[in-house]
Amino acid sequence: MQIRRVAVVGTGYVGLTTGACLAALGHRVVCADTDRHKVERLRRGEVDILEPRLPELVREGLDSGRLEFIRDARAAVAAADVVFLCLPTPMGVGGAAD
Ligand SMILES: NC(=O)c1ccc[n+]([C@@H]2O[C@H](COP(=O)([O-])OP(=O)(O)OC[C@H]3O[C@@H](n4cnc5c(N)ncnc54)[C@H](O)[C@@H]3O)[C@@H](O)[C@H]2O)c1
Repeated sequence: MQIRRVAVVGTGYVGLTTGACLAALGHRVVCADTDRHKVERLRRGEVDILEPRLPELVREGLDSGRLEFIRDARAAVAAADVVFLCLPTPMGVGGAAD
């Protein structure tokens, strides 16, 4: 199967690096995050995570049109062939993974 579009939900340490690297490899990637300010910053190419070359990869992805940041995870997932969930895993009652 040819992968046409990837969705990444959560643009923290895991999601942003995953999305930026997949875009650099040539995939079309839509990253979704509920944090409006983070999405706005990433759309401007502003990266607040310390990873070598990450700001450059994000900039390249934005400029190429292969990397996009949105707030609506449902829309990102609906059009995707592959979905990466890069979200916090809060504990449920009793401390077990929710
Ligand atoms: N960072 C690591 O080194 C590491 C290593 C192993 C596993 N993990 C796991 O990977 C997952 C992600 O970790 P991280 O470090 O990237 O977390 P993070 O806190 O840096 O990023 C999580 C992002 O998800 C967003 N988010 C939260 N709820 C959301 C929702 N409902 N829809 C869309 N976006 C939402 C937050 O705004 C945030 O930007 C966690 O489950 C973590 O335990 C992380």
